[in-house]
Amino acid sequence: MQRTLGVIAGDGVGPDVVREGLAVLGDVVGRDDVNIQLAHFDLGGERFLKTGEVLPDSALDDLKKCDAIFLGAVGHPGVAPGILEKGLLLKLRFEFQQYINLRPVRLFSGVETPIKGKGPDDIDMVVVRENNEDLYVGAGGFTRKGTPEEVAIQTSINTRAGVERCLRYAFRLAQERGKARPFRGLSKDEVGKGVRGQVTMVAKTNVLTFAHDLWMRTFNEVAADYPDVKTDYQHVDACCMRMVVSPERFDVIATTNMFGDIITDLGAVLQGGMGLAASGNLNPERNFPSMFEPVHGSAPDIAGQGIANPIAAILSVGMLLDHLGAPKGAEEVRRAVAKVLAAGTHKTPDLGGRSTTAEVGRAVRDALGT
Ligand code: NAI
Ligand code: MG
Repeated sequence: MQRTLGVIAGDGVGPDVVREGLAVLGDVVGRDDVNIQLAHFDLGGERFLKTGEVLPDSALDDLKKCDAIFLGAVGHPGVAPGILEKGLLLKLRFEFQQYINLRPVRLFSGVETPIKGKGPDDIDMVVVRENNEDLYVGAGGFTRKGTPEEVAIQTSINTRAGVERCLRYAFRLAQERGKARPFRGLSKDEVGKGVRGQVTMVAKTNVLTFAHDLWMRTFNEVAADYPDVKTDYQHVDACCMRMVVSPERFDVIATTNMFGDIITDLGAVLQGGMGLAASGNLNPERNFPSMFEPVHGSAPDIAGQGIANPIAAILSVGMLLDHLGAPKGAEEVRRAVAKVLAAGTHKTPDLGGRSTTAEVGRAVRDALGT
């Protein structure tokens, strides 16, 4: 199988972690019957400052022809907030109908979590964040801007179709995760009745009585099609508290774009920090390329020092391989990362070590196939 991978290294630490991710990719790609050709795209803050271009139509067309996209991070201290985020990241997510943002939150052995008394068995959930609607659509405007009477409106868009496809994805994912073994938070009784997984919907139905009423009605209707998946609901504020106090109660979380954005930074902390959190922006129908990226940004505070943790980017490559039909390579990437983290001999400063980005990347590559 021949596949084309579009690569947007981007800004700050983006190029450093992408380099390591691609090196790992190159080493494992032969494990499956896949051949991956890279297409590099020079996009991000540097390009914008040089040429004024964020995402030219020609680049969008070329990206559309790729089978998947690997993104480092965008964000530049010299560029006003919003220009790259909206013009590049959100544009790709929306244009390519990447309506699922998949963010696994898994604590690997050997990694410290700040949550007292919790370990790898307690922290293993996946957040399914709706990725094409809500407050991120850009619906709104100002009137009387800059005056004392100024009004600013930003509207949360929620469509029945958009909510339903997101929730169905979450239920299917919970079924999939339950195949190997049932979710550990289920009672014996529930497992005996054939329940294998759980979806927790996270919203704010008590206040957002229109938008989240739609979410709740859709959730209840969709759930009826998945009798082997237990349903659970949390208001987003209570969810934040419970993710810290009892993370073991979560299997799959389905939530809105805004809430998903916020709770996954908390999720990243549970799993050991931004340097470890991977994600995929998925178009499940595969009408357009899906995009894989570390959750973190360009980290300007540590950019140029060669000390960014490449693990989040490498785990994103694992997700990418799964998506491109290379499950052996994907599993191998996760196994190697788990091995390096468990050994604890190669850690970047964010994990309390002294290794460089390149040294950790090298360690993961050395652990492949061992
Ligand atoms: P950030 O994720 O870049 O950094 C937050 C903190 O985490 C910093 O202290 C940073 O040093 C640390 N960190 C991040 N990645 C790390 C890694 N791989 N290894 C070790 N430590 C790491 O978020 P921040 O500072 O809010 O945003 C910086 C820029 O990135 C902004 O321009 C923002 O808009 C952009 N951004 C871009 C994203 C993307 O491209 N998907 C996502 C989030 C932010
Ligand atoms: Mg975020």
